[in-house]
Amino acid sequence: MSTRNLADEELTQAVLSSFSGCRSERFQEIIQSLVRHLHAFASDVELTEEEWFAGIDFLTQTGHITDDKRQEFILLSDVLGVSMLVVGLNHRKPSVATPSTVFGPFFVEGSPRVANGEDIANGAPGEPCLVQGRVISVSGEAVPQAHIEVWQADDDGLYDVQHADLSEPRGRGHLYAGDDGRYCFWSVKPTAYPIPADGPVGKLLANSNRSPMRPAHIHFMVTARGYQSVTTHVFADGDPYLDSDAVFGVKSELIAPLTRHQPGRAADGRDLDVPYWSINYDIVLALDDASDMSGRAGGSSRR
Ligand code: BEZ
Ligand code: FE
Repeated sequence: MSTRNLADEELTQAVLSSFSGCRSERFQEIIQSLVRHLHAFASDVELTEEEWFAGIDFLTQTGHITDDKRQEFILLSDVLGVSMLVVGLNHRKPSVATPSTVFGPFFVEGSPRVANGEDIANGAPGEPCLVQGRVISVSGEAVPQAHIEVWQADDDGLYDVQHADLSEPRGRGHLYAGDDGRYCFWSVKPTAYPIPADGPVGKLLANSNRSPMRPAHIHFMVTARGYQSVTTHVFADGDPYLDSDAVFGVKSELIAPLTRHQPGRAADGRDLDVPYWSINYDIVLALDDASDMSGRAGGSSRR
């Protein structure tokens, strides 16, 4: 198809046919669909040149603030709901399996190994919180020795990597569940926090009168041989942001009560002279077997 003298609709067709000989069929499908939707979008809103340039400028700023510590494009994908859409499309599981949710930017490889029952806080500010439960299969049997990565923000609403002056990990760790599937660790009570809002994505939210807040949660990434891995969060029941998460990551099955306790002996035998909190949450893993599917969208992350 000639690229000369094209009316608007012919232009779309010409661009599509320019991508008709791609080396990969899948790439061709993706790029042609992207062109179709981009052209339809520009026509739909009758995009002005000024608006087009504002969009280019926004993407340029998004690139400029992105480095190996900060990923503003993923944040953009998160607030546009694309991350959760991709999670849903890629993680269909039996309905009782723990659903997956967004990965977020604060996971760090090589977290400290802790024994089952130990504390991952490592001095993170916040009231103590005992987190425990079982890793089980969809039929309720214990999943032995599941590998559990956990990470969370402290009482200031910050992850360790957001503190400039920290030399050691805080509020993160990995452990193995027991043969009976039981896991347990101490940390600090999770708190609601804003996603990084000092860049172009923050401006986008502010200009849209949208809140940057995420409800209090603890991140979990659980893997066990023979089961589908799950990357998810456990959210604190009663949090005021459960229905307005800036990245659309909340699912009802992921909400667990956060219970306050007076000083005394905790369920794991630890004596506390300050008030503390507890969360009980069972992680339900689907078999790593396509025959186990019942067609429910769960969702996960980058693993
Ligand atoms: C998080 O939960 O850590 C997170 C997820 C998406 C965007 C920003 C933060
Ligand atoms: Fe988080």
